[in-house]
Amino acid sequence: MKGKVDLEGCDEKCDGHQLTSDARHSGKVIEVEGLTVVRSGQTVIQNASFVVHAGDYIGMVGPNGGGKTTILKAVLGVIPFVSGRVRLFGHDLRHFKDWGRIAYLSQNAIAFDEQFPLSVRELVSLGRLTRKRMGRPLGREDRKTVEGTLKYMGISDLAKKRIGQLSGGQKQRVVLAKALVRDPSILILDEPVSGVDSQTQERFYKLLSDLNLERKMTILMVSHDLAAVFCRMSHMICVNRLVRTSPITDHFDPNPILKETYGEHFQFAYHQHQCKGEFKDG
Ligand SMILES: Nc1ncnc2c1ncn2[C@@H]1O[C@H](COP(=O)(O)OP(=O)(O)O)[C@@H](O)[C@H]1O
Ligand SMILES: [Mg+2]
Repeated sequence: MKGKVDLEGCDEKCDGHQLTSDARHSGKVIEVEGLTVVRSGQTVIQNASFVVHAGDYIGMVGPNGGGKTTILKAVLGVIPFVSGRVRLFGHDLRHFKDWGRIAYLSQNAIAFDEQFPLSVRELVSLGRLTRKRMGRPLGREDRKTVEGTLKYMGISDLAKKRIGQLSGGQKQRVVLAKALVRDPSILILDEPVSGVDSQTQERFYKLLSDLNLERKMTILMVSHDLAAVFCRMSHMICVNRLVRTSPITDHFDPNPILKETYGEHFQFAYHQHQCKGEFKDG
């Protein structure tokens, strides 16, 4: 990922959907260029540009109301933007169809009613449905994938339980399993760890790190947990109407960019060596 959109070798032929080859984009899976979003007459995102590369693990941070959810929804085509351009896997958003490659966990994804009628297995199985196969029963391969994912997420023993009976951390794993069961290449999560205890958070972060490292999944996560972002992730995107991006390296001082995002008074004490042991990776 780079702070600015970088379209090497791109000339007038790179207009819109003509730019369709993944190879030409050399691993760029999300490209945002000059994006401006207006909601209820207010400019919520202004001229944002960034690139996400395959394999990145990105923390999106910024104050409440800064526009994090808005920018994700604009990138996913859920809300319109007034100017700018978005490409997914090299395809202009307007022509992109391969939505199975992108999983999105919305903010409050675990806010199920206690009476929610589905079991864990049933809910996760819904993740296998595509528009084409809506209404048809799952095949053997689908069922195998569902069971494999339940196992990977450590929730096989909960398969028959109703969602409403689960703890916050268990629900978190279930909604993540539903997202993963389609084997996406990009996982986008909007504040997935709020409302659970710190140990559950750590286990969740560990799972995400494994997905990133072992399955090479690209992850973009909105989080208020700056320590987790700096200890675990490869890049950060700061959002407060304006959007700033940076790789997270060993000698990286996040404070200048955080001050731009949160205000001059903001100070974040962070030392790379403190990360060791902060999360129990066992
Ligand atoms: N549905 C909506 N209609 C109009 N404005 C909205 C809507 N949702 C959010 N906003 C506004 O957009 C701005 C950014 O909100 P949001 O993207 O939710 O921020 P964040 O996710 O960083 O907390 C806020 O000023 C918020 O009031
Ligand atoms: Mg939000």
